[in-house]
Amino acid sequence: MQSNFPRIEALDSLPVVGAFYDVPCLVCDRTGSWVPILGDLHSDPEIGISIMHWHPDARFLSKLQIRLLFRLEDVASVLPLVVNRDDIPDSTVQRRVLKCFRQMPEFPVTPRTKPFTQGLEKIFSDRKLECLSCPHRHFNLADVPVVEDQVTCPGHGLRWNVKTGALVKRC
Ligand code: FES
Repeated sequence: MQSNFPRIEALDSLPVVGAFYDVPCLVCDRTGSWVPILGDLHSDPEIGISIMHWHPDARFLSKLQIRLLFRLEDVASVLPLVVNRDDIPDSTVQRRVLKCFRQMPEFPVTPRTKPFTQGLEKIFSDRKLECLSCPHRHFNLADVPVVEDQVTCPGHGLRWNVKTGALVKRC
């Protein structure tokens, strides 16, 4: 059944922290446990990730969920994580109305994420951002904060200049 709340992936501006949105989630049919997911199911063979996965949408995870589900304290460290059906067995994608707890955190460059971001930067060095859709997996960047004319994709950390469309190297 369709809700009257805005669908998160259709936003063309930042979500409002504290407001409720219609969000896709991977839901365990047996227990009802769930994870909000970002973008489409995909793999990233170009950076050596063949498993089909989603990324958790950190905007809709409470601090308690981050601790219980991922055993992490820091919300930014949720961004490089992936979610697949093995994490939540007997699951289906369902929509839930969830509260927005925060804006999208900055995708971190760490020793673990750097090789992936670096690999993608080589592949996408001469590509341009169009209509705030990331040229990699077409994540919607219209609902991600712009900082000093730059937007960082929450998918895999590519950073784009919103005025020129050019890739901004981070590694
Ligand atoms: S979807 Fe991969 S960096 Fe944007």
